Amino acid sequence: MTESSGTNLFKRILRRIVGKPAVTPSAYWNAKYETEAFIYTKTANRFIVEFCEPLTPGAAIDLAGGEGRNTVWLAEHGWNVENVDISPVGLQKCTQFAAERGVTERVRVLCASGADFKSNLAPADLGIVPYLQVDYALLAQSLKNLVSQLKPGGTLVGVWHARENLGVGFGGPQDPAVLPSVESMTQICAALPLQVEVCELRDGQVQTKDGLKPSITLVLKATVR
Ligand SMILES: C[S@@+](CC[C@H](N)C(=O)[O-])C[C@H]1O[C@@H](n2cnc3c(N)ncnc32)[C@H](O)[C@@H]1O
Repeated sequence: MTESSGTNLFKRILRRIVGKPAVTPSAYWNAKYETEAFIYTKTANRFIVEFCEPLTPGAAIDLAGGEGRNTVWLAEHGWNVENVDISPVGLQKCTQFAAERGVTERVRVLCASGADFKSNLAPADLGIVPYLQVDYALLAQSLKNLVSQLKPGGTLVGVWHARENLGVGFGGPQDPAVLPSVESMTQICAALPLQVEVCELRDGQVQTKDGLKPSITLVLKATVR
């Protein structure tokens, strides 16, 4: 046996014992975004538009903003926005998208986790959290951290694929652990200085290869006390 075939055999045995190296969430999202196309389109989420359009522009934090469709929409509507996300590839696309739309001056990005980021725009007037699909503990910690960086009287808006989507709806993660429900979101908000105005399920439709299919979305709008 040569030295290199011995090394390879050792590596193969080690991999079998230890298992494949785990993909970190950041690496997972980087790989997903590593394409010219915008995975989540360049169109702002309709619930973000519904809840944010009536607000007076100020400073906003887009937590888990990814490629920046909502960040850029807010900037186009006069907000100064920080997109906080764990994926440098997504944030790079956001920066390019902001330049393409001529809103570079109102967009900044921060590569950090929801659990412990410190926004450069804090205390902000608005925090949005569109589709941060993580487990209960991480979601609760991320919302706590986000709310702590909003002004009293500021607004929190969240959108998630709902747990109720499993079984009856289409799209989104299929792991119930990362799908909040009205009950789990109510529980998270009850521990925070929030006046909840909307925490409910909305019906929607997603495009699939077999045409439009129903989907169920959880939406949240709350005011910081
Ligand atoms: C489904 S995408 C949604 C992107 C964007 N909000 C949108 O609606 O187009 C989920 C995003 O969450 C980000 N993410 C996942 N875990 C995170 C965490 N712990 N902290 C911050 N961002 C996270 C991912 O990098 C990804 O960009």
